[in-house]
Amino acid sequence: MPTSRAPRTRRYLVCEPRHFDVHYAINPWMRDDAQVDAALAARQWQTLIHTFRDHGHQVETVDPVPGLPDMVFAANSALTLSGKVFGSRFHAPQRRPESTEYATWFKASGYDVYQPESICEGEGDLVPAGRYILAGTGFRTTRDAHAEVQEFFGVPTIGLRLVDPYFYHLDTALFVLDEPAGSAGPDDDAPTIAYYPEAFSTGSREVLQRLFPHAILATRDDAMAFGLNSVSDGRHVFIAPGATDLIDQLTERGYVPVPVDLSEFHKAGGGIKCCTQEIRS
Ligand code: ARG
Repeated sequence: MPTSRAPRTRRYLVCEPRHFDVHYAINPWMRDDAQVDAALAARQWQTLIHTFRDHGHQVETVDPVPGLPDMVFAANSALTLSGKVFGSRFHAPQRRPESTEYATWFKASGYDVYQPESICEGEGDLVPAGRYILAGTGFRTTRDAHAEVQEFFGVPTIGLRLVDPYFYHLDTALFVLDEPAGSAGPDDDAPTIAYYPEAFSTGSREVLQRLFPHAILATRDDAMAFGLNSVSDGRHVFIAPGATDLIDQLTERGYVPVPVDLSEFHKAGGGIKCCTQEIRS
């Protein structure tokens, strides 16, 4: 067991939950009669941001827009890799205007933004993992979008079929703990990932087993606690406190779990990772 894992400083894009609420139901977590405690949501989100900064990470913000209650879920707006930005096209009409808001931020920050033709929800379904981009489908992002992603980045893009509506985005069922040096290069050194196998079709489970034989497997309870919607810097894992078994497994593997409670956001089907987009330069 490794005794010390090295963190790498990250750059995150986030959106303050000033207009966060549950106004519509586009996943099984969302209830029309949900009562969101706005003050608690604001405090939980601020704690996440302070925790990132306390661990040395750079955090940038995009301005929230009234009438876009899910805009706090920054991960869905793009995938940024090697300084290239692949934008989003949301499945739900209610979220479609978010794409323009985030694209405007990226353009103002000096990036060109590729606008996908197919439905694609950014890092919600697109997860860089070493030599590959893992790409979820089944509920939101389409197979056609996976092809666009591969063509745009030139990185082999592995489609994975999600089958459980509670885990409608790939980032609710899987996350990457560390990126080996030489990511996306001809390097056999696979990153460590954690996932909940039953969220995937049989074939996709086999693909994950082949590519990541040493993965950490999470229970349904950990997944339902949003434990897989985590952010890792290679050492610290910012994780929902309810994912107790997963927290123990991470500790055994030499990672340092940092619990951050975003329970108000679970009412919209989101957690730590959903609120955090990584900008990879
Ligand atoms: N209410 C949002 C939706 O259903 C939550 C998005 C969560 N984001 C994520 N990266 N999983 O689209």
